[in-house]
Amino acid sequence: MSMENWLGLGLVRQPKTVLFGPGQRRQLSHIVRGVATHALFITDERMATTEDFKAMAGAVADAGVMVSVYDRALPDLPRSNVVEAVQRFGDKGVDAVIGIGGGSCMDLAKAVAAVLANGGDVRDYFGEFKVPRPALPIITVPTTGGTGAEVTALAIVFDDERQMKMAIADANIEPMAAIIDPELTLSCPRGLTAATAADALSHLVEAFTARPKNPTPDQMATQIYVGKNRLTDIFCAEGLRLMNRSLAKVVDNPSDLAARSDVMLAAYCAGMAINTTGTAAAHAIQSPIAAISHTPHGFGVGALLPYVMRLNLPYATAEFAEMGRILNVAHAGQTELDQAQSGISRIESLLEQVGCPLDLSALGVEEQHFDQIASSSVLATRLVLNNPAPLTPDNVKAVLARGLAGDRSWWALP
Ligand SMILES: [Fe+2]
Repeated sequence: MSMENWLGLGLVRQPKTVLFGPGQRRQLSHIVRGVATHALFITDERMATTEDFKAMAGAVADAGVMVSVYDRALPDLPRSNVVEAVQRFGDKGVDAVIGIGGGSCMDLAKAVAAVLANGGDVRDYFGEFKVPRPALPIITVPTTGGTGAEVTALAIVFDDERQMKMAIADANIEPMAAIIDPELTLSCPRGLTAATAADALSHLVEAFTARPKNPTPDQMATQIYVGKNRLTDIFCAEGLRLMNRSLAKVVDNPSDLAARSDVMLAAYCAGMAINTTGTAAAHAIQSPIAAISHTPHGFGVGALLPYVMRLNLPYATAEFAEMGRILNVAHAGQTELDQAQSGISRIESLLEQVGCPLDLSALGVEEQHFDQIASSSVLATRLVLNNPAPLTPDNVKAVLARGLAGDRSWWALP
């Protein structure tokens, strides 16, 4: 496979309505009123006690819609959360599900909406395109600026009995509406803001430099990730520009609403891109590392990114060079390689400015883990196929060795 999108393909999957901007949470009741008689709000215990949450739920109730609340969403979304919410509300006539919070709350809303509409157990829907009928209408309201879960047709569920991280990847769980209100992130603490923003930045880099897959019509209909394409590139370019301008600002001053807005818009752009492109090596390798360390996901992928970008550079030089120009650190008069290296260095400096570790010892990785991490990383087939460089166990180990040593010299051409 080459890096050429010879089909000229463009594909995005997206909510029917996206509302963006400070104060837009006040539109929630107007959207819900049109689609539901009984809305189930899904959030976590902290969010449920906030004035913002109470105002949103109150406005929906005032609009004549019955409101129920499940406020026990946990981080890393355990399957038991889905089972409990379905047990409690399965026979109550719920006809729309609203996820308010971080990625886990929104993913829980998607999983519950899928099971309420289709019956059975959430396990029946793990995999790609396994949800037979559309989920109940899902409305997402993110309160952190990073995961992109507000627009993705993906729900990550940790099967706590089987101790396995699983995913529902299906256009039938695409949210109906996403309401993205940067004011809701103002209370998000600095550390979480930095980690989720590092995640969104990694999504933009991985989607922009992913391999175009030139899928057949059958692959288009049966695979969630169809590779880098013309429409996702638009979102990546805008997302990278916004991050370049405001990522450091938002971590310096978490109450800077203009910077919050930029980063939240960038995270939305990243979500739009990965919804059809998917992520690549940094995410594939981070997953087994997460089982060893307890580093936040965003810092885990961010710490891997410098080494993954170096592995990929020879296979996606033109894409990294374009990234350098988008980030304003390169111009067309330079060699392509210079432009590409400048782009990579700028991403690293952004990660550094928000406090993301840039070596793997900070994640608790040791040499004795390499074999296990390498063999599990390459099993993430969907992500492996997105990566421009072949993601062999040897390549993963080379990334890990350089990452552990903090060796950010450029790699020799393969
Ligand atoms: Fe991520």
